[in-house]
Formats: sequence, structure tokens, C-alpha cells
Amino acid sequence: CGIVGYIGEQPSKEILLYGLEKLEYRGYDSAGIALLNGQGVHVFKEKGRIADLRAIVAEDVDAPLGIGHTRWATHGVPNRVNAHPHQSASGRFTLVHNGVIENYELLKRDYLAHVSFKSDTDTEVIVQLIETFVNDGLTVEEAFRKALSLLKGSYAIALIDAENNGVIYAAKNKSPLLAGLGEGFNVVASDALAMLQVTSQYVELMDKEIVIVTKESVTIKKLNGEVVERAPYVAELDASDIEKGTYPYYMLKEIDEQPLVIRRLIEKYRNEQGELAIDEDIVQAVNEADRLYIVACGTSYHAGLVGKQLIENWAKIPVEVHIASEFSYNMPLLSEKPLFIYISQSGETADSRAVLVRTKELGHKSLTITNVPGSTLSREADYTLLLHAGPEIAVASTKAYTAQIAVLAMLASVAAKAKGIALDVDVTKELGIVANAMETLCDAKHEMEQIAREYLATTRNCFFIGRAVDYYVVLEGALKLKEISYIQAEGFAGGELKHGTIALIENGTPVIALATQEHVNLSIRGNVKEVVARGANPCIISMKGLDMEDDRFVIPAVHPMLTPLVSVVPLQLIAYYAALHRGCDVDKPRNLAKSVTVE
Ligand code: G6P
Repeated sequence: CGIVGYIGEQPSKEILLYGLEKLEYRGYDSAGIALLNGQGVHVFKEKGRIADLRAIVAEDVDAPLGIGHTRWATHGVPNRVNAHPHQSASGRFTLVHNGVIENYELLKRDYLAHVSFKSDTDTEVIVQLIETFVNDGLTVEEAFRKALSLLKGSYAIALIDAENNGVIYAAKNKSPLLAGLGEGFNVVASDALAMLQVTSQYVELMDKEIVIVTKESVTIKKLNGEVVERAPYVAELDASDIEKGTYPYYMLKEIDEQPLVIRRLIEKYRNEQGELAIDEDIVQAVNEADRLYIVACGTSYHAGLVGKQLIENWAKIPVEVHIASEFSYNMPLLSEKPLFIYISQSGETADSRAVLVRTKELGHKSLTITNVPGSTLSREADYTLLLHAGPEIAVASTKAYTAQIAVLAMLASVAAKAKGIALDVDVTKELGIVANAMETLCDAKHEMEQIAREYLATTRNCFFIGRAVDYYVVLEGALKLKEISYIQAEGFAGGELKHGTIALIENGTPVIALATQEHVNLSIRGNVKEVVARGANPCIISMKGLDMEDDRFVIPAVHPMLTPLVSVVPLQLIAYYAALHRGCDVDKPRNLAKSVTVE
């Protein structure tokens, strides 16, 4: 979920709606705003996208104070009642919340037995608590602080009081929240992107802090009331980075940006002599570790799998790759000197953050690889490497995935060099070749569209197979297809399919096979024959030099360790066109959120 708030002199409705559109990546199953003016509080909520909310917001209502929310449902189905803002029993207090309150049922029982609840959400408990405490005689700020001190879980909250149109109260714990500073106005938002149109000056908030925002001031306090001083920073984001220009969808724009991102990374990670360079402390931390533990979710996890291969081969350090959500209760036996590497496009994924909190408690060092400077995982880890991919807006990750692999490749080669391991690969040069190859593939959109139409226009399911590093790439290819086209797709190790899943192959089932690795080229082709013998419709994507007669598409040759950067591009494009052909919303697939800020 994402939240925004504005207090100032301008009408706030448009600012809030625009801000929520920029936060839709955090969820988009329902949305709402509350506007407070001389006539009182006006709440508008709707199931669906911000566009649906826009359609029901009264044209003639506006106010210089407002809060808003876009939701990714956790407690309670996405409908109008469960959409935020939520109001207290008397309607005096109105609140938006991102996060999960774990003890809401207990709080209801202990403090709110007298209140009848309107929604099924955990959030409504917060606003009812505040009103109850105010009725008991506390000031609004005291009641807010008291309510927060009882909450267990995560929250970013903005609260307004119908009896005071001069203030927004906000607070955060575990969920991200920033205060933005303007001339004659101030704002709060889950992410600077939301308010970039009005200000680039922001103040970070820390866990268990509240912020009292008026149009002239932003006051940060701890839960005990003690004032905290913190200097603002300038968000270095270009508003034009977050527009899609002439592209029909962000996803296509972001796929096309990949060559540029790789070239940018080559520039960012090199020293004055033109050699690859990474902060020495980071390289030292990597080389001092006896084992690296990569922790991530979704696409970032898939990038981690490729990273393991790169680091083990080049830097000769053992690497384990773990899904964040499983790690906490399925913790492996740790080595003596572990280093944790968190890979996260957003730097906000709650599952990954939960592991970081745990490993920090255990005293282990951590490195975050993220696209978002200043994100929670970046702030809380010992070290950060940035992806420099520019904002990634489409829910299905593309340019962040390839940037993650490129950064891991650079890290692996710099760590190897620092250890005195002589590599027979010039990674800068090879990444340059990769960028050119990506460009060639981005120009082959027409062919990818044809493949998508031929194989995926009507199918119910699709299998992807690959061996060695191609296996990791087909996992990502299958995830892309699932996410945006809703075709049931699975990625398999070529050799494993026959141990069960081959039972699903029927006449015409599409099987997309990657063949970019010489040492397994013949075996993967053997696996293709096995499925063809059972009726499958094969689509082999191979690499120049390894290609054979029946291949459907051949990608340009790149260094064998870097093929994932290139072989994923056709799979991204195939998923994109499959989704288009099937009439799906490419950038905002159903049920998903770009950044899942709840565990
Ligand atoms: C969500 C997104 C995925 C993404 C995953 C991890 O589930 O829908 O596309 O890969 O989170 O996100 P992160 O920001 O940590 O890389």
C-alpha cells in the first residue's frame, strides 16, 4: 500500500490523486482520499485503480488539506468498505495506513469492546483507539502516541482531525514514510516519487517516530514526545524518469532501457584509470567472508541465483541463495564468517527486511544491492551497491534484474582481482558487448511478437527449460509470463522435467528452451526431443555459434558467464506480447504489487 498527505494553501485533491497514481506500484486494488475543509471531512473511496477513484471524487469538493491511500489488500477483501481512509466512530478522526497491525484483535478486545466496527481491516483499530483515548481526556497528539505505543506490527500512518484543519499527524514503523518540505505547504508520502511534482526536499523518518505536519512546519518526535532534529535531503530524481513518454507501457520502455543501464553501470563502477572499481570496504567485506548468503524475493531471487554462479566461479567464495520469506524459520546453519547480501529492486520488501533485522541482531555484516538510494534495506545494511537503473515502474521487473546481474558480475570480478585471482575475462569490455547484444534484441520486437502470437495466444500453460545458468534464466522467463499474461508457466532444469512434470506435456503444449551454454547444448536439445516426442510445440532460443537448424530465434554471442543478461530479453519481450495479445494490463497485473511491504 502507499499513502500521501498534503497540507498547505493550494487545493490538494489533484496533488493527492497524482501522488497516488505514482504510488500505484505499491498496490492498486482499491483507493481513497479524505479532504478536510471548512465544511468538514469529505471521504471518497473506490474499489480498483486510482482512475476508478478519480471517477467518483466530487468535482466541486476540494481542500487545502488531504490524505490518500492506494491499497494492496491483506486483511479484508478489496472493496469500498475496506478501502482507506478509515474513520472513527464519531467521524472526527480519519486515517490512512500502510502495513499490518498484528495485535489488532487483542486491541479490539482490550480497549474497543464498546465500538462497532465498519470494516474488516486491522487499520480501523488504530483510528478507533485514537478517538477512545481522546474521549478519555488525552490531547490528539497524546492519544496518537499512546495508540502507536500499543501497536505491534508495521505502519506508515497519516491522520487528520476534523476539529483542526491545521495539522496532519503521521508516523512510521517498518513501513517507509517521508516528509516533504515546500514553500507554504508540506507533505508526507510513502515514497518521494509521489510528491516529486511539488517538491524535491525530503526528511527521512525513522521507525517509531511521529511527525506533526502543518503548512509551515514539520516536527519529528519520538513516541515519548522528545523532539528529533534531522536535516532534509534533496531527492535526486528527475520527474521525466517516471513518465512513459511515447511508450504504450512502462514495461516496454524499461526493457528498452536495459542497454543504457548496462552502459551507465560501466561508467558508475569504474575508476579514473578506466578499471572496474567497487568501494574497497565492500570488496574487503566480501573477501573476508567464508560464505555469502544472498537473500531476496521474486525476480531479485532469480538474479541472486545467477550471482551465485558468477561469484563462485570468479571470486571462489561459496554462496547460498535463499528466498527471504523462508529464511527466518528455516535458517541454514551459518558459517563462521558470513556476509549477507540482500538483493531488492525497491529496497523495501518486508520479507527481505525481516531477515536483515534478524541477521543484524546476530551481529552479521550486510550488503544491500538495490535500485533505490535511501530505501529501508539500503539504510539498514552496512553497505549498499546501487543499480542505477532509474525508477522501475512496471510491476514486472526487467531492467532491475539485468542491472542486479551486471552489478553482481562486477562485484565478482573485482573481488577476484583483489584476491589475486587472474581472470581471463575483461568484464567491462564484455558488458559493453552485452549492451550491444541487448540493443539488437530490443530491435527484434517484431519477431518476439510473432513468437508470442504463435505459441501463447490461446494456450493454458507453457514450460520453459534450460540447463546450467540457462535454468536460472528460464525460472525468470516463466515468472515474467505468469505475472503479466496469467498463463500458467513453469521453468525447469532440462534434466528434471522427465522426473514428473513431463506428465503435463500434451499435444501442442508450448515448451520454450534456452540453449546458450556449450557444455550442455546437446543435452538440452535431447530434452527438447523428449517433449516433442510427447506432442510439445518447441521453441528453441539459442546463442550464435551454438545454433542449429530448427532454432526459432538466435541471440548474439556474449561471454558464456554473462548470457543471462542477454537471453532474458527475448523472454521478457515474449511475456510482454503474450500479455498484450491476451488483453492484460501489462504494467499492473492483477493481484500483484511492485513492492510488497508486508511480510
Ligand atoms: C514483488 C514484485 C516482484 C519482485 C519482488 C521483490 O513481489 O511483484 O516483481 O521481484 O516483489 O521485490 P524487490 O523490490 O525486493 O526486488
